[in-house]
Amino acid sequence: MKRSIAIIGAGPGGLRVLKDSIENGLEPTLLERGSSVGGQWSPRNKENHHSSTYESLITNVSTEMSCFSDFPLPFNTPDNIKAKDFYKYFEDFVKTFNLENFIRFKSNVIDITPIEVPSKIKIGSKGWSVTWKTENGNLERGIFDFVAIAIGFNSKPNLIHINGEETFTGRIIHSHDFICSSYFEKEKNVVVVGSGSSGCDIANELSNIEDKKVSLSIRNSAFIYPRVINHKPLGQITFKRYLHYRLIKFWNFFFTIKKNIYILKATFPYIFKPTLRDFFNPPKRVAIGTDIIKSISEKKISIFPAIKKINNREVEFTDGSKLSDVDLIVTATGFLRDLPFLSKEIITTPAKTSLGLYNSIYPINTSNLFFIGMVGSRGSIVSLVEFQVRHLMAVLNGIVQLPTDIEMKKEVGIPQIGKSNDLVDTISYYDKLMKPLGATPNFFKLLFSDPYLAYCCWFKPCHILQWRLTGYGKFERAKKDLLEFCDRYNNLHFT
Ligand SMILES: Cc1cc2nc3c(=O)[nH]c(=O)nc-3n(C[C@H](O)[C@H](O)[C@H](O)COP(=O)(O)OP(=O)(O)OC[C@H]3O[C@@H](n4cnc5c(N)ncnc54)[C@H](O)[C@@H]3O)c2cc1C
Ligand SMILES: NC(=O)c1ccc[n+]([C@@H]2O[C@H](COP(=O)([O-])OP(=O)(O)OC[C@H]3O[C@@H](n4cnc5c(N)ncnc54)[C@H](OP(=O)(O)O)[C@@H]3O)[C@@H](O)[C@H]2O)c1
Repeated sequence: MKRSIAIIGAGPGGLRVLKDSIENGLEPTLLERGSSVGGQWSPRNKENHHSSTYESLITNVSTEMSCFSDFPLPFNTPDNIKAKDFYKYFEDFVKTFNLENFIRFKSNVIDITPIEVPSKIKIGSKGWSVTWKTENGNLERGIFDFVAIAIGFNSKPNLIHINGEETFTGRIIHSHDFICSSYFEKEKNVVVVGSGSSGCDIANELSNIEDKKVSLSIRNSAFIYPRVINHKPLGQITFKRYLHYRLIKFWNFFFTIKKNIYILKATFPYIFKPTLRDFFNPPKRVAIGTDIIKSISEKKISIFPAIKKINNREVEFTDGSKLSDVDLIVTATGFLRDLPFLSKEIITTPAKTSLGLYNSIYPINTSNLFFIGMVGSRGSIVSLVEFQVRHLMAVLNGIVQLPTDIEMKKEVGIPQIGKSNDLVDTISYYDKLMKPLGATPNFFKLLFSDPYLAYCCWFKPCHILQWRLTGYGKFERAKKDLLEFCDRYNNLHFT
């Protein structure tokens, strides 16, 4: 009998689990609360409130590096694509692999409970009961051997409290509710809070509207990276093994200071070229796209430190400066993880702590429940979920054995407060996941058997196909396609 799997969420993570489940002989049911696939990339409408993307958004990871390995976009696709085009990619993925019939839309999962078992057997060993609410409010329930949770973590706004905000007579919104700058034409004097990609993008977009006064309030500095460096896409030029493993550590520093990379700080002159001191104590935050640098230098955006308090329409900052007649405050303060359907017994207070998952997939002391895409990455999340799902399928097929709970616990450590968005060290993480599958390139072997391929894998962008050359899940075409990609990379010259 086929083993069943409930997949929660039809974003990139859920769709990847769906395709691989079918290929691995499982019986999947994908439950999606909205009415379309694509998760963050799906268009907003009455039924889809999940997405936090805005109309002007373009992807921040190079397109060639942001696709599933079995479904590449055509090579002539622009390197950073619009959200609506990325949405089409996921729609095409579903159509191409006939995934529609496995998806139940407008099915909001409200409860995931382990089937009761005698004590001493791990939670979930006998499977899981999943309950969801349908469009007409009816509750439905299913019993599954496995559950994969792929609901993302960029949907529930991290709403902040600002002293005196109850006296504010303008509007305060979160970036989740910012769809397009034309919706905010009436508001003339705007303060955007946050130096993440959303804050920088939104401040920049608003500043391009005539007569708008835009201020950006930042509590910590951030790196601002351009989308193109040395005529090559950022996501390709920086995503290389030899840089990642920092064999030539100082190269990183010279790379950072020489190229078009800035640090945004709340102190005058606000935009800095990184110095040696920044190399040793770099900003934690990275935002991509240098348009904001231009807007700041053209004085279209003013920079302020954190907000101290609000008094009616006046906003006071921690350095004592004040702005009056403020109409709109956009808090681009990130998102909180939300798992309302899981009991605390399984995962405690997920919003403000790391989930404490082994390999960022498997909860400890729990069986047959998996998390896909619930971890941050400086690379593409689409690639990341493919690696996670490959590892998961290898575990379900008995190719890879998970360590004991004690060993997993030792490796994961204690879940840390304040780390709601754990960030993996991307290339090492992929290597770690793929090693037990025999799919991590063995450079020693490769150097003797195919030195040019070894050179490409080490010095050229770390394309997802590097982990399809050997082992479980290898593609016969991987070497040819990878070498063609390296040729394309060598010949790329963006202006
Ligand atoms: C503004 C913004 C820009 C971004 N830009 C990039 C980028 O350029 N490159 C990149 O790689 N990543 C980017 N990301 C990250 C993005 O979240 C990932 O690319 C990707 O969408 C994550 O996929 P996912 O499947 O894990 O989650 P999501 O895409 O968030 O999908 C989760 C799905 O789960 C569904 N769901 C949630 N709860 C339930 C429930 N209870 N029952 C049923 N269904 C449920 C949701 O409706 C949704 O369809 C960006 C994110 C944001 C917010
Ligand atoms: N494709 C794109 O170009 C694009 C565009 C937008 C977003 N994204 C992605 O979407 C995800 C979310 O990005 P995001 O920018 O929305 O969120 P984010 O990266 O989490 O940034 C949140 C910002 O809010 C600030 N902040 C948080 N709490 C605050 C508080 N209490 N007071 C003041 N400031 C506070 C943070 O400051 P600190 O730095 O001090 O913590 C940070 O600057 C990221 O993965 C990002 O890469 C991508």
